[in-house]
Amino acid sequence: MSSADPRELIGTAPAVEEKALEAALRPKALEDFVGQSTVRTQLSLVLQSSRMRHTAADHVLLSGPPGLGKTTLAMIIAGEMQAALRITSGPAIQHAGDLAAILSSLTDGEVLFIDEIHRMSRPAEEMLYIAMEDFRVDIIVGKGAGATSIPLELSPFTLVGATTRAGLLPGPLRDRFGFTGHLEFYSPEELQKVLRRSAGMLDMQVSTGGFVEISSRSRGTPRIANRLLRRVRDWALVHGVALVDDSAASEALDTYEVDSLGLDRLDRAVLEALCTKFRGGPVGLSTLAILVGEETETVETVAEPYLVREGLLARTPRGRVATEAAWEHLGLTPPPPRDEETSPLWNG
Ligand SMILES: Nc1ncnc2c1ncn2[C@@H]1O[C@H](COP(=O)(O)OP(=O)(O)O)[C@@H](O)[C@H]1O
Ligand SMILES: [Mg+2]
Repeated sequence: MSSADPRELIGTAPAVEEKALEAALRPKALEDFVGQSTVRTQLSLVLQSSRMRHTAADHVLLSGPPGLGKTTLAMIIAGEMQAALRITSGPAIQHAGDLAAILSSLTDGEVLFIDEIHRMSRPAEEMLYIAMEDFRVDIIVGKGAGATSIPLELSPFTLVGATTRAGLLPGPLRDRFGFTGHLEFYSPEELQKVLRRSAGMLDMQVSTGGFVEISSRSRGTPRIANRLLRRVRDWALVHGVALVDDSAASEALDTYEVDSLGLDRLDRAVLEALCTKFRGGPVGLSTLAILVGEETETVETVAEPYLVREGLLARTPRGRVATEAAWEHLGLTPPPPRDEETSPLWNG
């Protein structure tokens, strides 16, 4: 990724070179998993019960935005069950045959993790229904009138599915999960715990104020928190700062253009264009995208969700609108309300 990439710091997908770093910071046990107390309690019951009954755990579906800990939880589930873990993803399973090969090679109690499970092909999905319910796959041999299906017994396994879009999952598939955990964005306090743990592992000295500062810019997301922490570490190392306090953290993150709400250059460009060029809107998404020099899709999927969640931007049928909080955050004064008669809405 080039340093000009606006998403380098606060994008939610892990960069390629980041995956190894993430693995090192991943909690290995459920009790080290910070926050998400509802999911943690429920999951712990599911796992304990199946351990007591000496069976494979029920299938688990984990849903929630990127970077909140779905992959981490899948690994923890395997660890807690002392089971082997097989990892694949929806896009990797395009043919039912790919899935049959994986399923038939699973050993008793093994955990199969399918990331982005909503992106699996339909035939593979249908094979998965039966496999989840009856631990069986039907292999079709031959073609046309002579085709026969041969049932193949599978070892009992636990499927852990992860999705950022639970709504895209077909009902029959969703219904076959014994337990669904919805991961929520983390509170600043929870993020501080994540950061404290990571700082310990990275051998960094950070004051409470330093943790508070970094957590407030992390968009409720552990992946981003850990990433910002590593950038603060770089800054501190180069500047010879042994203890990162609030002002050091804030200076470091200002250098990387991540502001006090965790907005980066693109987020701010969108808000600024909206406020300064369109008096706060409403304005169409594509116009907005052109103004900030980005693809419409980037603005819609990358910048907008967080701006909406933070109450800085609203989607209306007439277009995007900057909220009062947006003007305030940018340090700008909203213009006086427009005379309805001259508003474009009424002029057509
Ligand atoms: N509850 C948590 N406690 C501590 N670290 C976490 C937690 N959730 C996520 N992380 C960290 O955030 C990073 C991204 O988590 P990951 O499980 O890959 O997210 P997802 O699969 O939902 O995109 C990992 O490095 C992980 O260590
Ligand atoms: Mg993941």
